[in-house]
Amino acid sequence: MRKSLNVNGRTVQITIDDPDMPLLYALRDNLALHGPRFGCGLAQCGACTVHMDGQAIRSCITPVSSIGDAKIVTLAGLGTPDKPHPLQTAYVEEQVPQCGYCINGWIMTAASFLATKKKPTEAEIKTALEGVKCRCGTHVSILKAVKRAAEMMG
Ligand code: FES
Ligand code: FES
Repeated sequence: MRKSLNVNGRTVQITIDDPDMPLLYALRDNLALHGPRFGCGLAQCGACTVHMDGQAIRSCITPVSSIGDAKIVTLAGLGTPDKPHPLQTAYVEEQVPQCGYCINGWIMTAASFLATKKKPTEAEIKTALEGVKCRCGTHVSILKAVKRAAEMMG
C-alpha cells in the first residue's frame, strides 16, 4: 500500500507491505533517515525516538499506518550544519559521545522537553530523560550538555 508521510517538513510517499511495520523501519529503510536507531525494539531504550507533532515518541513501537497527517521530525530535521539545534551545539561543546549509538534518543527526547520547559532544574531534566539509555556511561556529560542547551534556549 502507498502511504504519505510528512517528515522533516516534506511530504513523502512510501510503499509498505505491512501496515503494522514500525515507523522506525519506514524512516530508516524507505527514507534513508538514519538518525533514529534500532536499539531494543521494545520502547525500553529511546534510541529510536522521533518527534510526532512535537512530542517525543518511540518509533520502534509506532505502526507507520497510525501516523496520519502528523508532522514527524527526525534528528536530521532538528537542525542544520549551519544552524544546529542548541542541543547539537552543546553535545559538541561538551564532547559527549563515546560510541554515539544513543545520541539520537537523548537529543530528541531532550529537544521535545526543552521546547516546552524553560529553565528546567537538574531534577526536572533527569526526570524527563530517565527512560533513555546509554551503555557507554556518558550520563554526566549528557546532563552537562542538556543544561548548557537549556541555558542557550533561555
Ligand atoms: S529501539 Fe525503540 S525504544 Fe529502544
Ligand atoms: S555513547 Fe555509546 S551508548 Fe551512549
